[in-house]
Amino acid sequence: MSLKITVIGTGYLGATHAAAMAELGFEVLALDVVKEKIEKLERGETPMYEPGLEDLLRRHVAGIEGSTGRLRFTQDWAEVGAFGDVHFVCVNTPQKHGEYACDMSYVESAIGSLAPHLTRPALVVGKSTVPVGSADRLAATIAGLAPAGAAAELAWNPEFLREGFAVDDTLHPDRIVVGVRSERAEKLLREVYATPVGEGSPFVVTDFPTAELVKTAANSFLATKISFINAMAEVCEAADGDVAKLAEAIGYDDRIGKKFLRAGIGFGGGCLPKDIRAFMARAGELGADQALTFLREIDSINMRQRGQMVELAREALGGGSFLGKRVAVLGATFKPDSDDVRDSPALNVAGQIHLQGGQVTVYDPKGMENARRVFPTLGYADSALEAVRGADVVLHLTEWREFRELDPVELGEVATTRLILDGRNALDPALWRAAGWTYRAMGRPTA
Ligand code: UGA
Repeated sequence: MSLKITVIGTGYLGATHAAAMAELGFEVLALDVVKEKIEKLERGETPMYEPGLEDLLRRHVAGIEGSTGRLRFTQDWAEVGAFGDVHFVCVNTPQKHGEYACDMSYVESAIGSLAPHLTRPALVVGKSTVPVGSADRLAATIAGLAPAGAAAELAWNPEFLREGFAVDDTLHPDRIVVGVRSERAEKLLREVYATPVGEGSPFVVTDFPTAELVKTAANSFLATKISFINAMAEVCEAADGDVAKLAEAIGYDDRIGKKFLRAGIGFGGGCLPKDIRAFMARAGELGADQALTFLREIDSINMRQRGQMVELAREALGGGSFLGKRVAVLGATFKPDSDDVRDSPALNVAGQIHLQGGQVTVYDPKGMENARRVFPTLGYADSALEAVRGADVVLHLTEWREFRELDPVELGEVATTRLILDGRNALDPALWRAAGWTYRAMGRPTA
């Protein structure tokens, strides 16, 4: 008989994981403590913009016409305990207020609520990004509370999905990492992931601490790559070099690789920034803080990019104050194909210029509603063209395809000054210059 799966927490990770498990053929029951989230998902609507996720949900959510009916939702912990053979914990672990450490309260409360209902043999699988050592502690919680005793076990299976590619990353992961303490746990997880493993996804079996560390190490490496190229952009800027050419040239070395070497205003979002900080905090607790002091520099290079973009804009406008200047901002989300504005470099730059007296007008294809919520005092336009109308300078801050496809000639007709600053090194300088624009990007030659 096929395994029965539950998913606890239906945010980004959980909603995608639940739908993907149904797609793989399992019966899935998902729980969230927020009723509105569940009601939305039951209608086949996602709480966030993620390409392909609504289609996947609609294909499986029970009650939707033509669906397989394999995915259901509940708020009842007893129902979850009675239903599942494998329980995936997908709640979030945000940065603690006023501290670098991560807030484990959602994970702890999920495990604490579930464990007393584990009346039959079950595997609880943590997917949330947690400080190393958490799984060990949570396993003890389960052992202390589960009526099934030793038949209720824990495993750790970190998630590597990227926003904008969440569905594909979940259905076709580039690796599956499982931290386990028994053969039974490994066997169950091999069964869950039989399809992607059959298609070639490597299956890496580790102990608990290694599984937890793989996730934070991967995100730290990615953050380091981005800050490395941004540091090179600073040097290129000072030495009149071209960071885009530099990235291309070093990227041909396949030990280095081309990916994640796009210089610009840096990384943001709900993962990379908080994960490197939580990692530093945890290393400090373990007495290994020296090993990770470089991450402090990675973080500060990253945060510096935002300020440098503001200074580039000031300089381009003549060097004085932003007072009375009209600034068009293209992009508000932390990356394209997402409506997520958490710790968004784009919104941060827009906000800084606004707070210094600039008349900022923002346009983003999907992030307008979220941006308005966190920054209601910025100006917002319904299209790129409207944002650019009358602008003294245009800032390209999130590399949506829509912006790459803009017609510089058409935009040039409505802008007051044809001045564009590319904070993502993603536009074609030749195209913009040919249409009479002054194109500037950090770490690139001026003409
Ligand atoms: C990141 C990781 O890439 C995922 O593997 C991981 O699972 C996820 O965090 C997580 O921990 O849940 P995500 O936050 O969706 O995924 O975003 P990324 O695609 O990593 O981009 C992060 C930021 O780096 C964005 O602001 C992006 O604009 C920026 N970036 C990326 C650059 O500035 N330059 C680059 O070359 C690449």
